[in-house]
Amino acid sequence: MVGVNRQPLIAGNWKMNLDHLQAVAFVQKLDWSLKDAKHDAGTVEVAVFPPFTDLRTVQILLDQDKIEFALGAQDLSTHDSGAYTGEISGAFLKKLNASYVIIGHSERRDYHAETDEVVAAKVQAALKHGLVPVICVGETLEQREQSGPTAVSVGQLEVALEGVAAGAEIVVAYEPVWAIGTGQVASPEQAQEVCAALRAVVADKLGQDAADRTRILYGGSVKSGNIASFMREPDVDGALVGGASLLVDEFAAIIRYQKHVGV
Ligand code: 13P
Repeated sequence: MVGVNRQPLIAGNWKMNLDHLQAVAFVQKLDWSLKDAKHDAGTVEVAVFPPFTDLRTVQILLDQDKIEFALGAQDLSTHDSGAYTGEISGAFLKKLNASYVIIGHSERRDYHAETDEVVAAKVQAALKHGLVPVICVGETLEQREQSGPTAVSVGQLEVALEGVAAGAEIVVAYEPVWAIGTGQVASPEQAQEVCAALRAVVADKLGQDAADRTRILYGGSVKSGNIASFMREPDVDGALVGGASLLVDEFAAIIRYQKHVGV
């Protein structure tokens, strides 16, 4: 069970999928599906992370239709403004009422050479602009074999939290690289082991209060059929969902995990 003071967070990382027109249709259908099922919006926080080009459209839709999903971006610049072609400032995201920003996703670390230091600078940029960073960490299979299940994620989070104030709101996502988009999901016990180690890092760096209130998510091949098993673990407070967050019925079922399977 999620800790008593932590509201579960189900986050959909769309990655580079759904243009702004598809985004409208998707968000409306998801909202209808949850309302049809009489889902109680207060039980679980839902956040969607569309591509940058969709953000304004989704913001307006959420606002006009009074849809209670939080909005997040998938990345941000370390800079505030200036000659950085192609970059997006956290200040711009805040203006769009974005609440969250994903930082350090393994796809950014791998394909865009983002180091732990860049991730740490992006965490600072997010907090500076009033955005909650969703800090992603996780090991490859090779790293797991070499250094065990927790060392890589713990090391990545330690650097990311350098200089973060004790009172800052952050979210941590444990996403083992070998489980992302592979269908090779981690076991609930594996997720719990790493999430507990990450909570200890938060306690060490930001204090016990922060560790108690910070939500730690699991991500990697989450589906409606396995979400409840993760949510039963004491240190797993939600999920960062990729592929399954693009399917209306499947994502709605993940959000409604408390109903379709007893937790
Ligand atoms: P999948 O759910 O497609 O495995 O992706 C997980 C992920 O990378 C979410 O950020």
